[in-house]
Amino acid sequence: MSEFSPALDYVVEALGRVRAMEALEGHGRELRCDRVVLEALVAAVAARVPVAVGGRGENVGGRVEESRREAVVVASIEPVASVVPVKRGPHAHSEAVAAPVSRVVLSQAAPKQERLGQLEALRMEAAVCVRCAELAGSRSQVVFGAGAVDAEVLFLGHAPGEAEDREGVPFAGEPGALLEKILKAMELGPEQVYMTNLVRCSPDLIAGVRAPKPLEIENCHAFLVRQVEAVRPRAIVALGAQVLRALFGETQPMAQLRGRWYDFGGIPVMATFHPKYLVDRPSLSEKRKVWEDLLLVLERLGRPVSEKQRGFFLPKR
Ligand code: URA
Repeated sequence: MSEFSPALDYVVEALGRVRAMEALEGHGRELRCDRVVLEALVAAVAARVPVAVGGRGENVGGRVEESRREAVVVASIEPVASVVPVKRGPHAHSEAVAAPVSRVVLSQAAPKQERLGQLEALRMEAAVCVRCAELAGSRSQVVFGAGAVDAEVLFLGHAPGEAEDREGVPFAGEPGALLEKILKAMELGPEQVYMTNLVRCSPDLIAGVRAPKPLEIENCHAFLVRQVEAVRPRAIVALGAQVLRALFGETQPMAQLRGRWYDFGGIPVMATFHPKYLVDRPSLSEKRKVWEDLLLVLERLGRPVSEKQRGFFLPKR
């Protein structure tokens, strides 16, 4: 028989005895916990992300499910990036790059394998997050993000909706179908794109469609920063005014903000309408506006843009 509990056996097997003991130092041999938490712990240690292990009796969930009752260990990963609040300056004009509300300092880019580990550890940590009790209590699952760890472009929405809560991936509903078409027009394949949101649980399940609250966005911000750190996109596309408000303190409607570059920890951010806006207003002229913003992104990435692409959504002569 093993000298350890089954959960600890798993950690030892995954990490090797010495590293497992280092990781769990001071927590004895009685590690018993939910598989999800355990895997998060192992992935975090494997990715060499700092791990804090809570003691017996700590809970992984406000909404404790039957399968989580046994959880006695909490793995949490400290933020790698520092977020420094800065004062907003005067409103940026269209050529300038606006400063974020919080100055985001990203850690140095790690090799791909390590970033994959970071992303996986983060996904598992997010899967059991209960920082927002209301959201955690109503979600069927956390909608972490989807796409390639080597993505060139990260598309950022505000929050998953009902369809995303059901499917577990961002942009699974009608706006997502439109976003797929946009990606096709941009000639970006699945290996070049990553998608996520300001928050990772759907607020729409509580009382119909609702915007994420500032505290919910704040609670989820470290996940966003660390996801961006792991993916290291060359550009971010901020979809909709809610994203601009949360990240850069902008209060104007998107019509006045679109087409501008912002900065998130050194990564250029293009502001444009949310695809839901186009679902609701499917006119050629509105599509063209979004397309012009995205042409700027393609140019910034140095991707070839054909004459045909340049002419998309222009009125027929
Ligand atoms: N709207 C968003 O902002 N994000 C999604 O994932 C889906 C719809």
